[in-house]
Amino acid sequence: MSKQAAALIALQIKRKPDSVLGLATGDTPLLMYQELVRIYQKGELDFSKVKTFNLDEYLGLEKEDPQSYFYYMKEQLFRHINIQPENINIPNGMAQDRNLECSSYEAKIKETGGIDLQVLGIGVNGHIGFNEPDKNFEALTHVVSLDEKTIISNARFFESMKEVPTKAISMGIKTIFHAKKVVLLANGETKAKAVAKMVRGKIIPKVPASILQLHKDVTIVVDQEAGQLLQKNEIHR
Ligand code: GLP
Repeated sequence: MSKQAAALIALQIKRKPDSVLGLATGDTPLLMYQELVRIYQKGELDFSKVKTFNLDEYLGLEKEDPQSYFYYMKEQLFRHINIQPENINIPNGMAQDRNLECSSYEAKIKETGGIDLQVLGIGVNGHIGFNEPDKNFEALTHVVSLDEKTIISNARFFESMKEVPTKAISMGIKTIFHAKKVVLLANGETKAKAVAKMVRGKIIPKVPASILQLHKDVTIVVDQEAGQLLQKNEIHR
């Protein structure tokens, strides 16, 4: 799964060295980032002109906090490759004016000409980025209150439940949808239901990832466990 996904990203960068990548965090893309680093270290990939925009960041965590997505990206990818620091974009979880942070982030993505390839994971509840199940699809980069399921799922990275952030800044569904290509990764049995609903279920804001059924260029890369309910060819409502 990770090698396939890394190969798609590598191909994108080879075809367009100044690609704008949308990046995801979480457990799922960890080995994909390792694979990209490996390809880079072999001298087969050049990130010098690549620009990146991360999907989301927790509110209230400093960049240096080991649980922040900024720290994750630095450790898992950026410090190992030749990306220019000024080409890295991650929402600032400590911004004084959160709404301004959201609109500037959105504007900056637009300025670059838009995201060429967006990497996504999927939450157990079908979220993408931090677009949680809701009554509506939230369009642009916004402040989110995290779903209980997400908070519980993220608790594994923190020492106590009290420390788990309850809010984040996330790209919106429209922001993600505007990416020219989307590559979504999912592994493990816990993601099987969300994957099946995303692919075969109704397109509803209760399953934010289901909107991807309407996107013109999506590649979903799953391992056997995450894809197990797809094989049965069932409709998931
Ligand atoms: C997190 C992130 C998402 C990620 C998802 C799955 O909360 N905000 O971008 O895709 O949940 O995470 P994991 O890959 O750890 O299962």
